[in-house]
Amino acid sequence: MKKLNKSIFVFFIICSFTANAQSNKMNDFINNLMKKMTMEEKIGQLNLVTPGGTVTGAVVSKDVDDKIRKGQVGGLFGITGPDKIRRAQEIAVNNSRLHIPLLFGLDVIHGHRTIFPIPLGLSSSWDTAMIKKSARIAANEATADALNWVYSPMVDIARDPRWGRIAEGSGEDPFLGSQIAKVMVEGYQGNDLSKDTTVMACVKHFALYGAAEAGRDYNSVDMSKVKMYNEYLPPYKAAVDAGAGSIMTSFNTIDGIPATANKWLLTDLLRKQWGFKGLVVTDYTSISEMVNHGMGDDKKVAELALNAGVDMDMVSEDILKYAAQLVKEGKVSAKTIDDACRRILEAKYKLGLFDDPYRYCNDQRAKTELMSQVNLEEARKIAARSFVLLKNDNHVLPLKKSGTVALIGPLADSKRNMLGTWSVSGDPEKSITIMQGIKNVAGNDVNILYAKGANISDDTEFIKRVNVFGEEITVDKKSPEEMINEAVETANKADVVVAVLGEAADMTGESSSMTHIGLQESQENLLKALVKTGKPIVLVLMNGRPMTLTWEDAHVNGILDVWFGGTEAGNAVADVLFGNYNPSGKLTVTFPRNVGQIPIYYNHLNTGRPFHPGDSPKFKSDYLDASNDPLYSFGYGLSYTTFSYSNISLGNKTLHPNGKITASVTVTNAGTVAGKETVQLYIRDMVGSIARPVKELKGFQQITLAPGESKKVSFTISVSDLKFYNSDLKYVYEPGNFKVFIGTNNRDVKEADFKLE
Ligand code: BGC
Repeated sequence: MKKLNKSIFVFFIICSFTANAQSNKMNDFINNLMKKMTMEEKIGQLNLVTPGGTVTGAVVSKDVDDKIRKGQVGGLFGITGPDKIRRAQEIAVNNSRLHIPLLFGLDVIHGHRTIFPIPLGLSSSWDTAMIKKSARIAANEATADALNWVYSPMVDIARDPRWGRIAEGSGEDPFLGSQIAKVMVEGYQGNDLSKDTTVMACVKHFALYGAAEAGRDYNSVDMSKVKMYNEYLPPYKAAVDAGAGSIMTSFNTIDGIPATANKWLLTDLLRKQWGFKGLVVTDYTSISEMVNHGMGDDKKVAELALNAGVDMDMVSEDILKYAAQLVKEGKVSAKTIDDACRRILEAKYKLGLFDDPYRYCNDQRAKTELMSQVNLEEARKIAARSFVLLKNDNHVLPLKKSGTVALIGPLADSKRNMLGTWSVSGDPEKSITIMQGIKNVAGNDVNILYAKGANISDDTEFIKRVNVFGEEITVDKKSPEEMINEAVETANKADVVVAVLGEAADMTGESSSMTHIGLQESQENLLKALVKTGKPIVLVLMNGRPMTLTWEDAHVNGILDVWFGGTEAGNAVADVLFGNYNPSGKLTVTFPRNVGQIPIYYNHLNTGRPFHPGDSPKFKSDYLDASNDPLYSFGYGLSYTTFSYSNISLGNKTLHPNGKITASVTVTNAGTVAGKETVQLYIRDMVGSIARPVKELKGFQQITLAPGESKKVSFTISVSDLKFYNSDLKYVYEPGNFKVFIGTNNRDVKEADFKLE
């Protein structure tokens, strides 16, 4: 044992010696380079431009080639492929005075060419190893396409389904969000950024973007520090601790100051408290947008951003225009520019770009590694694991591999809508629709009938807004009545109806907030007509946000939420519909009954007047016209089998601050098919110096059980699971009573009590 400790010690000494030597080498290199740089050249490094490609705002950079030659560009985003990227890199390396290579970034959010489920879907798998694998594959493809920087993971906690960007994150919970943030960074960056298959991650959007008021995109955020520290900041911190190379500022204000000018956020918290050493990039034109926020003119906002701690300006070019003047006038110090420039050069150094600026430009890899068969197979598996079975009365699912299926709905055969938001490099033409997937999987004994039944929406103004990137909502030549009649006739000929309804891909994502989050009227009318046929109905829901589905839940027999599942979604949906994969996803965000309940999330505080069913309702915290309960709660998701849970057995009733206790349950597969279960552990701190949430996720484990099989699942609890930020923002634990809950979701749980001494 002693010998082992000694060799571990020696190993660590060698590692830290090597790391120091490497960092000294990097510092020497960058010091030498910076000595040769003029102030203008340093400022040039701080400029990130897009020649087109991904444009999410007003400005598209002009004269990009010329600017690269003049040393006025540090990085490019929005272009892909070894040819284009090599060409741009050659201008920087051959024609700029100091030959400094460029960074090449892109929004690789849920896969690059092979598209995986949208992040909200990925998170619903609760399978962190698999999520990491998806990021690894995305990094492989991105680097094969010559990129070295991805604008992901998006780790904004979001509890408002009106906000379209809820699709891009991992839902409402800080614990799960942190685990996913960490594995995404690890998946992208690996353990060596200079490898030609790893990319620099960019954690976004720092910070609190998911709490935009009223769910309206880019809106203000106002939040107590206690809530920030306990509930919203942990995933960013987890990504920083995992070594993320860069972080992107958010569009919103925090305490009245836009994140991009927020010195407390970018310097005091991020750099000083968290020790972040990487580079801070703004979001798209978020510097110049501060003029609209009322922070000053273009020059003033550049000054604010630099002094707050911004290193790189995405697209606004205000730093390029004004920084030199600001330094001359003493409003920004030369050291601030040096520090920002150094961080960008460090990123380039770590990516190995000074050794070989073309290390990511490999034509052979671009030919063989993009959308390879192996990647597509992974995408199919991953997609199936992201689906959440919300309802399954009388085992309407899985479907039999015989008989007649009426496949109905505007999303049943729509290649354009399979990939979901932020799939900028995905090719919708290569995506598998649900119709195609069912044909591939069902076998010859299944007769498939099809009718579109409705347009995704009939609202022409709305359609125009959704279709800005292409025709996601197609308007049929037939009238709504004709389409519904055809669908009803088709349903009448079948044994079961599979209705594929929901949102077009760009009804969620950036700038896609909605006040109505139910099905569009056209689809509601269709579903009502189908229900009237009396046939068993399975609703396959495609969506990027929690939707209000109270009517649907009460009237259809089965609901499978498949999000936007990516390139292989159609095959994966068919795998689940026909029972080749038993669904195992669990919601990572609460589904409200109606918009009026928002924000609604499981880990809320108690009130002084909590409402319990059966109570007299007057003067209780409730609604006159609706229940407090969500439609589907966090952690919820069914399987084709059922799992039964034993009571919790606690190793000890008392936890000593330096000790641990175990909480165990035995889980049994009580059904007739094998299944995967996510066993969830929640804790409640019964008395605190600040009010504590009614439940907080503190652990989860996934097990697979054959029919009749049982497994004991044990969690270890220590004080680190009980800590929180108190009103002095100290990270503390407080002695007292705690409840521990273990179950299949946050509501159906067994519970036990213990005491922390
Ligand atoms: C988005 C970011 C994205 C950037 C670059 C912005 O509008 O908010 O998430 O990374 O554009 O495309």
